[in-house]
Amino acid sequence: MKLETLDAGERDQAATKVYKEFVAAQGAGIGQQERTKGTQQLWDFANSSQGETLEPGVAMQKVQEEAETTLGMLAFDAFPRFLKSKYSKAVMEDLKTGSNPNEVAALEGAINTSESKQPGDADEWLNMFVSTAESFPACIVISDMTIPGAPMVYINGEFTKTTGYTKEEAVGRNCRFLQGPETEPESIAVIRNTLSKGQDCHVKLTNYRKNGEKFQNLLSMKPVFDGDNIYRYVIGVQFEILEDKGLKKRLVQLDKLLRLLPSRLNLKSKASAQARGALAAKTTGEANTMIAAKEQILSAGEQREEKEAAGSGARPKQKFKKKKKAAGGVAQADNYDGTIFAFTKIMWLQDAVNTLRSMLMDQAGFMSFDAFLKQCGSQLSQTHLRFWVEAQQILMCQGPQQVQAARQLHMRMWKNSLFYCTTNEIVIGNLNRTGWPPLIQEMGRWQEMSLYFLAFDCFTRYMESPQSREFVTALQLREANGEQLPVKTVSVGLDPDSPSYWMDMLKAMSETLRIGLVVSDMFVPGCPLAYLNEGFAAQTGYGKENIGRNSKFLQGPMTEGYMVEEIVESLRHADPLFCKLQNHKPDGTVYQQCLCLTPVFNVDGEYKYQIGCQVDYDPNNPETPMFIMELERVVRNLPQTLTGETPKAMPTRTQELEDFLASITAGGTGAGPGGLTATPPSGSAPSGGGHPRPGASWTPA
Ligand SMILES: Cc1cc2nc3c(=O)[nH]c(=O)nc-3n(C[C@H](O)[C@H](O)[C@H](O)COP(=O)(O)O)c2cc1C
Repeated sequence: MKLETLDAGERDQAATKVYKEFVAAQGAGIGQQERTKGTQQLWDFANSSQGETLEPGVAMQKVQEEAETTLGMLAFDAFPRFLKSKYSKAVMEDLKTGSNPNEVAALEGAINTSESKQPGDADEWLNMFVSTAESFPACIVISDMTIPGAPMVYINGEFTKTTGYTKEEAVGRNCRFLQGPETEPESIAVIRNTLSKGQDCHVKLTNYRKNGEKFQNLLSMKPVFDGDNIYRYVIGVQFEILEDKGLKKRLVQLDKLLRLLPSRLNLKSKASAQARGALAAKTTGEANTMIAAKEQILSAGEQREEKEAAGSGARPKQKFKKKKKAAGGVAQADNYDGTIFAFTKIMWLQDAVNTLRSMLMDQAGFMSFDAFLKQCGSQLSQTHLRFWVEAQQILMCQGPQQVQAARQLHMRMWKNSLFYCTTNEIVIGNLNRTGWPPLIQEMGRWQEMSLYFLAFDCFTRYMESPQSREFVTALQLREANGEQLPVKTVSVGLDPDSPSYWMDMLKAMSETLRIGLVVSDMFVPGCPLAYLNEGFAAQTGYGKENIGRNSKFLQGPMTEGYMVEEIVESLRHADPLFCKLQNHKPDGTVYQQCLCLTPVFNVDGEYKYQIGCQVDYDPNNPETPMFIMELERVVRNLPQTLTGETPKAMPTRTQELEDFLASITAGGTGAGPGGLTATPPSGSAPSGGGHPRPGASWTPA
């Protein structure tokens, strides 16, 4: 303002000084952050005049432009806050003394209107921002980062014009549908990296309109944190790079627009968003310990919001009666029988010998296994089972009764299981003089041998049979009735009405494993680990304190970029993945990790969990082959739905798994370089349509 009162010569000189100081003092604009080469070149071009001597008169014009921008910024952010503050009241009092009463009344009216328009929370801020953004002559979109998958909750009219997608087609989806075969993977990597850290990002990349036409997009993204420091929104501005004369001017305007955007709101989010945001994987990479109380936090948030809505007279959120909804609005399965069976099967096969021993102690268990062998077993396996029972009966007797029972078995000429199952020499004429105690002891050892034979040869097949499924279901009912049983299902002692029932069962099962098992909740932003087992700590060196972090902490400088790309593709498309990649232990040691990813869908067919199983593929560890076999067994039996039933449309992956395991157990001579094996390209289109991307079709040279 003062500049305008100076005469022309002084004014130009002073304006040049002011403008240069202003430019030097500016905060981070475009080009200050992590960027690709293409983005750098573009921004060098936009900045190319900065620092040059300014023409007289131009400086004044620039200062005026900047003043307008600054005013806009104040009007957008600081002024509304000022109006709400106690200071505005003091100013009003000041104005009242000696001013025209009509003018004061008009001003008061205006302030009150502005006050009533103040956003009360972050969601209301969004609504207000949206009404302003609608008229901006640039593409503006907003993603809600507390909603898993970061879908766009708003796009403006300019975005629909530039991309050809309508609001109905774009809102609710992640913006990656604009990507296609020529989208630069390095640009996507920068986006991913900066977004995960909550940093500003400016990236030039190739995108596609709905009609398939390519366009060059200078994408700018501004993360917005709320008053509780929750990573709430990301505002995205898509700037189409048309290499004409006006480009530079438009870039400068874009920079101004971006400077207007806030990165922090002094407003809270609604209770449900607060709860979701509080659970999100932290942008710093440290563990979010709240994840342990996920269900309680989400349901408390929802209840608080409902109460607030009831208090304010707003219509409460619709309650869904059809399906049981757990915290976070996640539909729960009514029937977990399939999962109970699958997890129980994994547990039992983990310790087949002891499980079979306990099962045979239970009458129903014995009958179930016996029925299976009669139907599907060989004569030999049936004889081993008979011997096991007969030996058991003898071993359960005491003193002279035990000797008598042993003698009877040895005397039997017809169908004597001893003939097939032991090497106990039976000389019938000498039976009375036989030293029975060592003979009975020996028989006990042969009984154990028979159990091993049955466990390794028949029990695995039994667990594939309908008899085993029926037995597990019956066992579960007996457990629910409080019966104490020698053999237990995965659900014993767990509350089937708990919203965390599935997770509780997964935890119980995972702790019986020696391989690593982690589970990420795909409904929580940033996909933090909801659980990791002791096996994971043993295989990777990272313990339970890492629950709540995104599992990328395993990656490091030696991790192959193309394998990370494969993992991201698999996560994005909810495809199972089997791969081997270089990971880092906490002390920095590099090792080969066998990783199997299994997606798990909820009853609505949504991608709810991601289970990862890991083995440190150390060729010098004699236990590695055992771990690999365990990995194969576990992954093959993991159900891909919460209910445990395999939907008809689910892709089969057993052959793929077999091929992968065959390639690595054969000494790492897989198809890839240095024995690395990449999975075949998934070939599926990016979720929700769009254009296939190059990352999905990478094959090793
Ligand atoms: C607000 C916002 C706007 C975005 N706009 C675009 C865009 O215009 N074009 C694009 O290719 N990706 C855009 N992205 C990036 C993708 O949505 C996605 O984050 C990126 O592909 C990396 O994640 P991914 O590896 O899961 O695909 C945007 C992301 C956000 C949060």
